[in-house]
Amino acid sequence: MKAIIPVAGSGTRLLPFTERIQKCLLPVAGKPILSHIIEPLIDIGIDEITLITGHFSEQVEQFTKRYPGVKFRFCKQEKRLGLGHAIKLGLTDDENPVLVILGDSIFKLDYQEFINNPHNRIGVQEVEDPRRFGVIDVHHDRIIKFLEKPEVPPTNLAISGIYYFASQKELVSSLDFLIENKITTNNEYQLTDAMARMLETGSIFSYFHITDWLDCGLYETMLSTNKRLLTDDQNVVSSTAVVTNSNISSCTIEDRCEVTDSTLNNVILLSGSKVSNSTISNRIVNYNEVVSGITDSGRKIDT
Ligand code: UTP
Repeated sequence: MKAIIPVAGSGTRLLPFTERIQKCLLPVAGKPILSHIIEPLIDIGIDEITLITGHFSEQVEQFTKRYPGVKFRFCKQEKRLGLGHAIKLGLTDDENPVLVILGDSIFKLDYQEFINNPHNRIGVQEVEDPRRFGVIDVHHDRIIKFLEKPEVPPTNLAISGIYYFASQKELVSSLDFLIENKITTNNEYQLTDAMARMLETGSIFSYFHITDWLDCGLYETMLSTNKRLLTDDQNVVSSTAVVTNSNISSCTIEDRCEVTDSTLNNVILLSGSKVSNSTISNRIVNYNEVVSGITDSGRKIDT
């Protein structure tokens, strides 16, 4: 089976860190977000991974050289026209299934079980306030409606960013319909609108409960994901980083970083940054940033 991972976006919500790197290549728990996404796919024998690239596409292509045995395909999204448009670029008009995972979400689940389904299937997570998510309405084990950020959500099941389509053909024709008829939401061709159209034309969707949806699209969620993955207060420290006279827990420390006389908890230090005489939690230190003599408990994050 093939998988499609869209990574064309510019990651504006993670500026300034995404000024020089594609968002999916930022590190959490010691490795790029994209590594956390593709390694479980390789483990279950996904035989082709199609990456939809755009912003910093060459970095993504270069990154895939770390996985020499894996067949990658690259489709360039020249203009950011939405997730539906991005996915369409990677689809083929045939009856074969496809697994789609957003390039900024890590899922801890049994992938084999997820894809072992006769119908389309969407990963959903129960959330406290579904009003800021795509939400599903259900009848028994079937989805009966997709709603985008509803004022009055019928369930608390939020669409998380992992999708299994039993036949690419149905999705292709539904996306073609949106594009031919210029049906957009917030000026973008949305995957959710394509799935709503598929429901209308008779496709069957079921849902799959996800408990570990580790989002990486925002400052706070990237840090809560780092903390969740570095359990037992582990650290991942590059061999070219130097940590002296410091106490560190749940830290991701990239190459050429220096930490001196400091206490750090859940801090991501991007390449070449330096921290000294500081006590810091829940913070991302930018490339080559120098931090000295501060006490900062960082932003509030959910763990
Ligand atoms: P986001 O909505 O998070 O967009 O897309 P983004 O550009 O990455 O981040 P912000 O909103 O500017 O901070 C979710 C996923 O879908 C991809 C993104 O790359 C990301 O992996 N995407 C979205 C595309 O590939 N193309 C699109 O047109 C839209």
